[in-house]
Amino acid sequence: MKRLLIITTVCLLLPAFAYANPATLNHPGRTLAANCFQCHGTDGYGMEHLAGERVSEIVDELQEMQFEPARKDIMAVHAQAYTAEEIKLIADYFSKQPK
Ligand code: HEC
Repeated sequence: MKRLLIITTVCLLLPAFAYANPATLNHPGRTLAANCFQCHGTDGYGMEHLAGERVSEIVDELQEMQFEPARKDIMAVHAQAYTAEEIKLIADYFSKQPK
């Protein structure tokens, strides 16, 4: 019975963790940035925290990965798939998330 109560409580609280910042729901970079959520967390709150980072920092890191031909890891392949304009939009989106 106690276990059922704990499971029910956790299930009811889960939507609270699927939070998306309402202030940036219509940001033009959100759909592009959604490709990053699976590893970096929704809105960048996860591994290699991107939320609240400076635009120039994210852009520099992604451009470094783009122009390193020896890199064939998952991030390099991701970075190589975007145009400079798209990278700026993605970086702007993450920078606007509270830290
Ligand atoms: C399949 C998982 C995966 C996806 C999807 C992914 N990343 Fe990453 N990312 C990683 C891993 C793992 C690292 C750390 C290792 C590395 O630097 O390659 C990383 C590192 C980074 C870094 C460097 C962070 C730092 O402080 O050094 C940035 C910036 C970054 N990712 C941005 C993005 C963006 C933007 C996207 C979406 C376009 C994205 N990532 C999608 C796995 C992923």
